[in-house]
Amino acid sequence: MEIIKSTAEMIQWSANSRAEAKTIALVPTMGFFHEGHLSLMRRAAKVADRVVVSLFVNPTQFAPGEDLGSYPRSFELDAARAQGVGVTALFCPDPDEMYPPGFRTTVAVAEITKKLCGKSRPHHFSGVTTVVNKLFNLVQPNFAIFGEKDFQQLAVIRRMVADLHMPVEIMGHAIVREKDGLAMSSRNSYLNEEERRQALCLWRSLQEARQHVLAGERGCAKIEKIVHDVINNHGHCHIDYIEIIDKDTLESSARIDSDVILALAVRIGKTRLIDNGRLLHGEDNA
Ligand code: PAF
Repeated sequence: MEIIKSTAEMIQWSANSRAEAKTIALVPTMGFFHEGHLSLMRRAAKVADRVVVSLFVNPTQFAPGEDLGSYPRSFELDAARAQGVGVTALFCPDPDEMYPPGFRTTVAVAEITKKLCGKSRPHHFSGVTTVVNKLFNLVQPNFAIFGEKDFQQLAVIRRMVADLHMPVEIMGHAIVREKDGLAMSSRNSYLNEEERRQALCLWRSLQEARQHVLAGERGCAKIEKIVHDVINNHGHCHIDYIEIIDKDTLESSARIDSDVILALAVRIGKTRLIDNGRLLHGEDNA
């Protein structure tokens, strides 16, 4: 596996791959790999000849006071894990390489970035779309694979790619869960034992909602209330949002039909966790 640190080297690597008629799949990450990341990399290795994983904790998607400084990092372990699942190149630039002095450009998607996570993190998605745009330009992938746990991020990236005619196929990949249902996330490492127990409220409330839907309930307000109660009964969990929304437009729904998902963001202590899933089929959004 090659380790690439400079943008110039990344551009050259990508040009060489195209000259050799090799297809490229990109998995953008912020590192601290868990099984969720590895499943994206394995999928990438199935769809393309070469897999680039970007490992970059992107400062522009964190607001002041968020966890940029404490975001978990473990480069050596990450590199070994990426190599173990067949990654061809690990692109890990320094922040100055990605944002040199004088950097002034932002790529922003309107409307859908203002809902859900965008309400409490108003600048987050413009940081994400800007860095993903830069990664697409540097790597020029045929495919890019994103986890469905960040389903709003996936919807925003799909919108950007469609609106700007970007020649890359975006693939969503199903949420990977711990045995007890907690969605895997690098931020789970912030949780102490008690918080880890409380964090199960996201998965349990999703399951409870599904049971009510299975029993015939189709009113979103009723289901949201049930989810609210499950989370509040779990101890010190602070609800950021509970919404049943259309999978693509992210518009709130009044009735449950096949295209809606339940989306959750909950703070457990200082850790903000998100989760989501389909209600009608009782599966994640794969
Ligand atoms: O999902 C993430 O880890 C990040 O938002 C991404 C897509 C790598 C952009 O920094």
